[in-house]
Amino acid sequence: MRKKIVAGNWKMNLTYSEGVSLAEEICKRLNEAGVKNLDLMPEVLFFPPYIHLSQVTKISEGLKGVFSGAQNCHTEPKGAYTGEISAPMIKSTGATHVLVGHSERRAYFGEDDQMLVAKVKAALENELIPVFCCGEKLPEREKENHFEVVRAQIENGIFWLDETGFENVVIAYEPVWAIGTGVTASPEQAQEMHAFIRKLIKEKYGDDLAEKTTILYGGSCNPKNAASLFSQDDVDGGLIGGASLKADDFIEIIKSF
Ligand code: 13P
Repeated sequence: MRKKIVAGNWKMNLTYSEGVSLAEEICKRLNEAGVKNLDLMPEVLFFPPYIHLSQVTKISEGLKGVFSGAQNCHTEPKGAYTGEISAPMIKSTGATHVLVGHSERRAYFGEDDQMLVAKVKAALENELIPVFCCGEKLPEREKENHFEVVRAQIENGIFWLDETGFENVVIAYEPVWAIGTGVTASPEQAQEMHAFIRKLIKEKYGDDLAEKTTILYGGSCNPKNAASLFSQDDVDGGLIGGASLKADDFIEIIKSF
């Protein structure tokens, strides 16, 4: 069975102490809820800001099935890139994952396919699991161009990998029109796109790998809609923004499987 994951992308929110308290609170409550043995739960991932990462990783390490990652990484391992953070630095905190190609980075920081290929490569070379994000904008869906947009993002971003590399990638489908808007994709819309992505993987890498690949949904996922989204055959969990900033909401979402 493929891995189920609930991941919290904190984006540029929470001070250091607020972030540490949130991670402590969530881990404490998962523990109290008797889910020490998280085998029955989805894997839980925190994506805090860089400066919180080391401490959040220490907190996560106390609980089985809980991990952390960075929201971005640079393509180069080191050098004169003031203000940037490299994959080896992320790895050195004990973090295990990194988001690559979030739509906010594509839109606000000019990240293009070529850069994302280099970031996926940097992540895998440093034994970090890239969570590769894709998703169409509203006008693209309105023109019924959404499948082609997502196909191009996936083909250009990750289909250059060999099977061994691809095995270590998680995909997150996040329609841009659903991010931070309160408008969620319907379970049917999410399932339709996830099934399409899985079909692309099947055609490229075969049945086995397609069946094993975890595909997360992101975009206004909350405690009310998580269960219906997660019940879809090809939706393997969620990448949660706003609702991951409140312990109650995030825990409810984790329990939605
Ligand atoms: P929201 O859950 O706030 O819509 O954000 C989703 C997201 O972008 C997660 O990466």
